[in-house]
Amino acid sequence: MSISIQQVQHSRLSGIDFNNLPFGKICSDHMFVMDYVDGAWQEGKIVPLSNFSIHPANLTLHYGQSIFEGMKASIHNDGTPLLFRLDKHVERINASADRMCMPQISSETFCNAIETLVDLDKGWIPPTDGSALYIRPYMFATDEFIGVRPSETYKFVIFTCPVGPYYAAPVSLLAAEKYVRACDGGVGEAKTAGNYAASLYPAKEAKEKGYDQVMWMDPVEFKYIQEVGTMNIFFIMDGKAYTPDLNGAILKGITRDSVITILKEKGVEIVEAPLSKDQVLAAHREGKLQEVFGTGTAAVVSYVNKIAFGETIIDLDPDNYILGPYLKNYIADLRSGDREDNHGWVQRVLDKATVPV
Ligand SMILES: Cc1ncc(COP(=O)(O)O)c(C=O)c1O
Repeated sequence: MSISIQQVQHSRLSGIDFNNLPFGKICSDHMFVMDYVDGAWQEGKIVPLSNFSIHPANLTLHYGQSIFEGMKASIHNDGTPLLFRLDKHVERINASADRMCMPQISSETFCNAIETLVDLDKGWIPPTDGSALYIRPYMFATDEFIGVRPSETYKFVIFTCPVGPYYAAPVSLLAAEKYVRACDGGVGEAKTAGNYAASLYPAKEAKEKGYDQVMWMDPVEFKYIQEVGTMNIFFIMDGKAYTPDLNGAILKGITRDSVITILKEKGVEIVEAPLSKDQVLAAHREGKLQEVFGTGTAAVVSYVNKIAFGETIIDLDPDNYILGPYLKNYIADLRSGDREDNHGWVQRVLDKATVPV
């Protein structure tokens, strides 16, 4: 089904410097908007990026009924936009919607909207290596009501931002000892706004202590590792890759899933199980802790150079990492179309946006 498109009169594209793209600050020309009313999604449309008008009693502003996704489009050197693991993002937004009492979106609607929007604004995909068009689909409650209950109306929106290469420096982590991100039965597995709001204060404290990010631990004993900021985490110990199992409190990272597949194919043994700080500290003492890195859409693979478990500090040297750089390059090359896609993860976007002239 084709989506109605109202194009901008004047594109802002010519004023954009692709060599200077701060993450998340510049938005492309258009956005997709679709409303849920009377128990059904109405026809979605693509319109010029513009502000919403919000009622003071909007449910989201008070009770946080809001979910989102994050993915990237790259441009192949033949000019075709490429999307990465779109099916997994549909699966995850619907799992988040389910947990937050929000309506499902069909895979057809979600994919069609993203493909059409990306095709229309493909001129906004930076061609530089490592750059991409960040895609932000999200859904929020739009009922005007004071009182805690699921909204009866919603807005689903997708907008995009050109982002520069994420050559992030290695990160230092402070293992949580007081604050928690998620617990059994909570909403840790949902990509919902409140999880990020709750992380702000502990992250601020970690920064004040000189650390880049908090490493979340289990909420009972602060013994088992969960994840970091907007990344899942991997420890390479004695040649094996350890990552916390998906126990309901951890976001089901799509990069995490890709990394597990790639490592398995490389013959690396994967241990997806509860991972305690004692295991990591013992491996460190025995000289078996080889690499620690986070995985996520934004940074792809982000190397860790220091972890503090209370008074015990582990220093690591990412210059000696082998698997981290291998994975980072592998995924970057797949996303840009420079590596053959044996997994069916990369999708070409072919002329979707038929613009009226
Ligand atoms: C809390 C959290 N964990 C992990 C991730 C990594 O997920 P993905 O690899 O799907 O980007 C993200 C980013 O979406 C996140 O917000």
